[in-house]
Amino acid sequence: MIQDSPDYWKKNRVEMRAAGFDPDKAAQVNEIITIASAWTNAHRCNNRVREIADLLTDLIGRRGGQGLVVGAPAVSDALTQGTPTAGYSLVSRDVAADCFEIGHRAHHGQGMIVISGCDKTGAAALMPLARTNAFGLVLYPGTSSPGRVSFEPYAAKGRNITIMDWAEGRAAHESGRLTREQYLELESNVMPGSGTCGAMFTANTMSTCAEAIGMMLPRGASHPADIDAASPIHPDVQAQAAASVDAVYRLIEAGIRPRDIMTERAFENAITTIYAMGGSTNMYLHLLAIAREAQVPLTIDRIQAIGERVPLIANLQPHGPYAMVSLHELGGVPVVMKELLRAGLLHGDVMTVTGRTLAENLAGVPDLDALGKQDIVRPVDSPLAPPNNHISVLRGNLAPDSCVLKLSGKTLENGVFRGPARVFESEADTMAAIREGRIQRGDVVVVRNVGPVGGPGMPEMVMLTIQLQGAGLGKKVALITDGRFSGVSHGILIGHISPEAARGGPIAAVKDGDAIVIDPAARTLTLEVGDEEITARLKTWAAPDLSDRVSPGSVHDKYVRLVSSAAHGCVL
Ligand code: FES
Repeated sequence: MIQDSPDYWKKNRVEMRAAGFDPDKAAQVNEIITIASAWTNAHRCNNRVREIADLLTDLIGRRGGQGLVVGAPAVSDALTQGTPTAGYSLVSRDVAADCFEIGHRAHHGQGMIVISGCDKTGAAALMPLARTNAFGLVLYPGTSSPGRVSFEPYAAKGRNITIMDWAEGRAAHESGRLTREQYLELESNVMPGSGTCGAMFTANTMSTCAEAIGMMLPRGASHPADIDAASPIHPDVQAQAAASVDAVYRLIEAGIRPRDIMTERAFENAITTIYAMGGSTNMYLHLLAIAREAQVPLTIDRIQAIGERVPLIANLQPHGPYAMVSLHELGGVPVVMKELLRAGLLHGDVMTVTGRTLAENLAGVPDLDALGKQDIVRPVDSPLAPPNNHISVLRGNLAPDSCVLKLSGKTLENGVFRGPARVFESEADTMAAIREGRIQRGDVVVVRNVGPVGGPGMPEMVMLTIQLQGAGLGKKVALITDGRFSGVSHGILIGHISPEAARGGPIAAVKDGDAIVIDPAARTLTLEVGDEEITARLKTWAAPDLSDRVSPGSVHDKYVRLVSSAAHGCVL
């Protein structure tokens, strides 16, 4: 383990002076805190990160310390999904984690505050903390303030309109189910300012993960980034930033490191909370990657075993009507965790970045009875959906190493979905088929060769799921893929099919018209074709030629050589 070496930074007077520091003051600094900040002005998800980094630097300086800023790429799925650059998204998780590790170590940091943001920076936030075990915590720049519109069915949601409503509204407009005026009203009002996609999509799933695992201060996972684009960062973000600086000093003083907090039991708490809140399927990939860094022996089956006890109790989009900010106004993730703790579903004795246990943190949080009439968080004994009706892990002859099902709290008619395969080798071909009306009710759309290697980079098939919803087919068509989904995606969806087609998995053997059965109760995904026939088909399989997508020496060139399967979190 590399030791902290702050004196190299403090005593290098020539370098201090040249970089604009006062060498005498630098020598007196009490702590060097890495401010890991993936800032970009390219998108709303991370464009407030620099303001927050500046605020943290100032706050640390007032305590006699020095904040040293470290950057990383921040990829927004909003800019990549459905485009040829979508394969850079998941890849950026590991690159960002590496950047934060490198900057922290190379600049001799002692503590670390990681400012998260869009999906992948949210996942990457916990990885360097777990990997370096440096004193520290995660600070969330915030989610998007929700909007409001005047026409139904959106008006009934009140101030809970999010990017999902806009995306599905765009598809509905395309298929003639929304007028141009209505679509433009939606477009103008959906997001007044910065922030991540505003409900229980992947970024908020990962902020919830950071809070629930104990690595973010209470109520830090749900605040809005700002009031609108012209306002400063939200007062709740400013308060969290100040409290986070206090916390990192407290952690250093108490000697509490990330791996004292990110224990196996803390992972169980995070998994339970994410299942209860209806989180994104991306959490399987990211939790496995974070656990690897924390040296916790987590598997996808263990995640399922923990999650299958947990009902869906938070009424947030994509399965419910509410935005994340509505939960924040109710009290945030602690309200959900208080109910889960009351029901015996959480470990209350685990340590957190407050320096107190989870149970101690939740002691002052009002329980659901005290909150009175509300429909955002339900009691465990009258949930929105019983366990295993939101996300779960399946296996079968089509996914021997696992796949993940997303039902968004729905129950399938007849308990299973059985239909003929409609096979596509790319997202673009599938989109064309949906738009041209070539996908029929009852079909099982198979999108393959879009996995970690085949993508490369395992792009999200969210545009397809949005198009199906917009065309009114969300409950009538299943979509299965070796790619992945956005947290925005909902419907009858199976992703992460492993092994992937590009590595010769059975999904490569599917032909148009084959019957495919999804059975959530049995947790199986079955290709109704005999084993001998599948084996015979795979004998003629050849690995896809990636030369049109992967240039020698590129990030993807390295990635496809290193990446593990989705069943293992696509860790490198
Ligand atoms: Fe950044 Fe959704 S695109 S959180």
